[in-house]
Amino acid sequence: ASGQYKSYINGKWLRSCSNKVVTIMNPSTREEQAKVQACTREEIDEAYEGCAKAQEVWRQVPLWKRAEALRKVAGILREQRETIADCLVSEVAKAKKDSLSEVDRSADLIEYCAEEGLRLLSKGDFLTSDAFKGTERNKLCLSSRIPLGTVLCIPPFNYPVNLCVSKIAPALIAGNAVLVKPPTQGAVAGLHLAQCFDKAGDVFPKGLVNFVTVKASENGDYMAQHPGNDCLSFTGGDVGLSLAKKVGMIPIQMELGGKDACIVCEDADLDLAAKHIVKGGFSYSGQRCTAVKIVLVHESVADALCEKVLAGVQKLTVGMPEDNKNITPVISEQSANFIEGLVLDAKQKGAKFLTEYKREGNLIWPTLLDRVRPDMDIAWEEPFGPVVPIMRVTGADEAVAHANKSRLALQACVFTKDVDNAIRLSDAVRAGTVQINGAPARGPDHFPFQGFRDSGIGSQGIVNSIGMMTKTKTTVINLP
Ligand code: G3H
Repeated sequence: ASGQYKSYINGKWLRSCSNKVVTIMNPSTREEQAKVQACTREEIDEAYEGCAKAQEVWRQVPLWKRAEALRKVAGILREQRETIADCLVSEVAKAKKDSLSEVDRSADLIEYCAEEGLRLLSKGDFLTSDAFKGTERNKLCLSSRIPLGTVLCIPPFNYPVNLCVSKIAPALIAGNAVLVKPPTQGAVAGLHLAQCFDKAGDVFPKGLVNFVTVKASENGDYMAQHPGNDCLSFTGGDVGLSLAKKVGMIPIQMELGGKDACIVCEDADLDLAAKHIVKGGFSYSGQRCTAVKIVLVHESVADALCEKVLAGVQKLTVGMPEDNKNITPVISEQSANFIEGLVLDAKQKGAKFLTEYKREGNLIWPTLLDRVRPDMDIAWEEPFGPVVPIMRVTGADEAVAHANKSRLALQACVFTKDVDNAIRLSDAVRAGTVQINGAPARGPDHFPFQGFRDSGIGSQGIVNSIGMMTKTKTTVINLP
């Protein structure tokens, strides 16, 4: 992935007439990696017009043919797995093996969506009027799900392919058109995904799928507020909070990060908890909204847990994504500085460093902090980096109270051997998902996935996304 890349609008590869580009940096080398188009408002408008026309055709394509078209794209995506994975390595510094998994998972997701769409969208409701008090059986109601129109898809840098198809595939199977605004870091991988749709040929009407790169600071709001949008599916950071206020009266689905708490009870299997904390906290260098972002451990088992987690952390390899290291450079210098700020704040306020803090450029060594207290910023902020804070608590109630005070509430996890305790704590923690004896995770991708409070709105996962990207339409037959 190098050079200058065109946008994909109305079935054509377009060099923007703005003559402006957006530069993509390689997070590992901190050198320029590629350039993409900074499309103009007129070009954005053209994409929306194309969407509207193509959707009119697409919504009438039989469901089984829409499913077949999606399966074709999944097949092409599998053929392109090496190329796309290489883009992820250089654009978002994801380890090569994880980049390949992201592409494979995306193809699986598209195929599952095609299958699920056939089942879900072919079913409707039939009602008779005589159930309602005072009404005769003289009205028959037929109801089914129909598409919304155009779905604006805004995926994040950490899964530029997978969190793109998790929006596109449900939208398309349901009969919608899509306009994708790829993340800046990850845009080239996104454009390679666009190429898979292009290669699928005339199974999709021209203009049904558009990938429009823009300078977000200039045209991000313009896209979000565009009258051509019938739905917004967004994954990203706090910018989503302001977007939610701007988009108007269309269905929105947003996932905006998490401060995923890991509650370790006195009776927990500490080996299991430690294994999940290391994997959950440090995979992709902690740059997952579902990463373990704070450990709340019962004080009586804290020393033993810290020892086991530290042993796991010491086995993590650190280096470049090409070499498949566990810990790779974070996405940008700005991000690395933010993470460092949290670490230094914790240090100044007395956290105990179980590992030495070390940074070279955007590469931050895995950092484990014990005896974190609520007055430290890291007790509340999402580092989105390879740092796991551990807070010692006097009991599960204190842990739950801390988790529930966070403005972010995506997922949480509880480690205990007592099933009653597990259910009690799952009920008490107010987060979108609570995992029992396992680290937070979005997948498998057909499970519901949602954040509470500032972590998001709406529920994702294949089934819920298909539902959210359709609306109910009814026909009532009035009998004489
Ligand atoms: O970063 C947000 C993603 O939705 C997390 O997905 O749990 O599969 O890593 P994951």
